[in-house]
Amino acid sequence: MVPSALTRSLKIHTRMKVLVVGGGGREHALAWKIAQSDLVDEVLCAPGNAGTARVARNVSVSATDVPGLVALAREEGVGLVVVGPEDPLCAGLADRLRAAGIDTFGPGASGARLEGSKQFTKEICDRHRIPTGGWRRFDRAGMAKSYLQSLDTWPQVVKADGLAAGKGVFVCTDATEACTVVDMLMEERSLGAAGSTIVVEEFLEGQELSVMVLTDGETLLVMEPAVDHKQAHDGDKGPNTGGMGVVTPVPWVTRRLMRQVEQRVLIPMLHALQIEEIPFRGVLYAGLMISDAGPRVLEFNVRFGDPETQVVMRRFASDIVPYLLGTARGTLGELEPAEWLRDTVVGVVGAAEGYPGEYRRGDEISGLDQADEVEGAVVFQAGTKLMADREVTTNGGRVLCATAIGSDLEQARTRAYESLDRIRWDGKFCRRDIGLRAAPRSVGSDL
Ligand SMILES: Nc1ncnc2c1ncn2[C@@H]1O[C@H](COP(=O)(O)OP(=O)(O)O)[C@@H](O)[C@H]1O
Ligand SMILES: [Mg+2]
Repeated sequence: MVPSALTRSLKIHTRMKVLVVGGGGREHALAWKIAQSDLVDEVLCAPGNAGTARVARNVSVSATDVPGLVALAREEGVGLVVVGPEDPLCAGLADRLRAAGIDTFGPGASGARLEGSKQFTKEICDRHRIPTGGWRRFDRAGMAKSYLQSLDTWPQVVKADGLAAGKGVFVCTDATEACTVVDMLMEERSLGAAGSTIVVEEFLEGQELSVMVLTDGETLLVMEPAVDHKQAHDGDKGPNTGGMGVVTPVPWVTRRLMRQVEQRVLIPMLHALQIEEIPFRGVLYAGLMISDAGPRVLEFNVRFGDPETQVVMRRFASDIVPYLLGTARGTLGELEPAEWLRDTVVGVVGAAEGYPGEYRRGDEISGLDQADEVEGAVVFQAGTKLMADREVTTNGGRVLCATAIGSDLEQARTRAYESLDRIRWDGKFCRRDIGLRAAPRSVGSDL
């Protein structure tokens, strides 16, 4: 048999070392999936957590230590680096790794600006007619406040321009509230430099959807969509979080809607990157609001979503490594389309008391092994720490995400909760309504 181009190009690196940068649930899921590949000899994770330690070798280099990570990849002879979080991408980690001759999954600093600056993304969307809400940017509090006071349509959304780890967006119901946010961001500098410029955005109604694509700048591989649950409490109440639970596939998302997303958002964005000469090798994550008028962009992220990755990886049936390598090397177009399991996966996050505010840490976690024994379940750890005595303790707001696969939503949901309920720590809480949200009456135009 004649070996395919893919096998030939991979032969050289057969059984390579892969370094996953980061230490959250997303990185546990990525390391878990990558470790299943026949092409991989060893997975390293920097810095990792107690969960990644089960599938990878943790190395205590911080995810934001750019020189430290480049040195680590060199010393270990790593064949592929997969960068999880946005901060090191914005700081140019991928550029530095590529300059050192190391295949890297993740955009350079110029591409990472899509996440690092809301204004930058809004401008690109407008220049290339990618649908998004109307907006204005301000770098002076006085101007922002007079503008807000002149508006008579509410709510409005006030966003810090820069990276804010999910804490920079405020949906405001009136001018008084919006002006308080402006003062906090621009005068008190509650988020530092990230809030020195702000974007005021039209409030969009509809249903949120996350669509992640792998792209090497030429080819798009659209991943299965997922729906995250952002608010801390049941019924979408309470403060915004990094995500409390997630479901894939999304029952109300039709093929037709996905085609609209591709044609109106993803392909135009790929063209925009090409025209603006912004190289991009990694994940483009479109945060979308789906309304009767079709999909509109809320934001772009430049890395895998968390917790979306935890459920999407469980449905990705092919070996992920050729796709990560193809993205890193610019040869994604040479690969066959990836295969997906048709089953449903539900992920429920267990969080520490107080999250998303000040939260408890250092509580001992029990029941992890029993949780993995539930049929179809895999627990991905996030804010956890492996202690010297092998105990696992809480070490973050979102502690872990129990995922479960099932033939339908109900089965996946039941299994995910059964798994999560076997895990205990003091102060644990979770939402009980993940996967229960009623399907919207109509979404997307012309469905
Ligand atoms: N224009 C908008 N209209 C309605 N809701 C919005 C709008 N922009 C953001 N949101 C809400 O705020 C959340 C966070 O906004 P997003 O732009 O995704 O910022 P980030 O993820 O960087 O915090 C969204 O998931 C959505 O629920
Ligand atoms: Mg977002």
